Amino acid sequence: MSGDFQSVFLTEAQIQNQVKKAAEWLDKRFEGKKPLAVSVLKGSVMFFCDLVRAMNTPVQIDFMTISSYGSSTQSSGMPKIVMDLAASVEGRDVILVEDIVDSGNTLYKMRDLLVGRGAKSFTVVTLLDKPSRRQVDIKADYSCFEVGDEFIVGYGLDYAQQYRDLPYIAILKREIYEK
Ligand code: PRP
Repeated sequence: MSGDFQSVFLTEAQIQNQVKKAAEWLDKRFEGKKPLAVSVLKGSVMFFCDLVRAMNTPVQIDFMTISSYGSSTQSSGMPKIVMDLAASVEGRDVILVEDIVDSGNTLYKMRDLLVGRGAKSFTVVTLLDKPSRRQVDIKADYSCFEVGDEFIVGYGLDYAQQYRDLPYIAILKREIYEK
């Protein structure tokens, strides 16, 4: 483990165990349907790839890059679309895959946008949920882990674009993000 971390928060095995359960939940919900799974980049990329591969339901995949943090630890509250979807969501059952729902601003914006574009249904699966930090009234349909206010990185989550490549999630030492 890197010296930048206080401790491991979720091991690879704990994450993968929950990925399987989320995939089973989605398989039940979308049996016989052909949903469009949307990865909210960059943070959800690891969870997204593991999740769609663990599902039995055939899904199409697409990507949207949306960012509100920059290199700060605080959300700007105004998520911006950096890269839009390639596919049309009109009449589609959309599964939105997030790594974390924090203030809820990103999810709020995504729901507004994709429902506004005519998605038939909008289902949100997130790996992590930080309900204590919510600024808008919104929640995921399925969340793998509820977390407190720790600054966590790894498995897609970054600090200043670092640590996304870890297969586990760790708590970053305060002196790293407060220096
Ligand atoms: C993170 C994360 C979520 C969002 C959640 O993305 O991936 O999309 O913040 O925060 P919110 O609920 O407060 O909106 P970020 O903007 O840091 O971009 P990234 O995915 O490229 O890391």
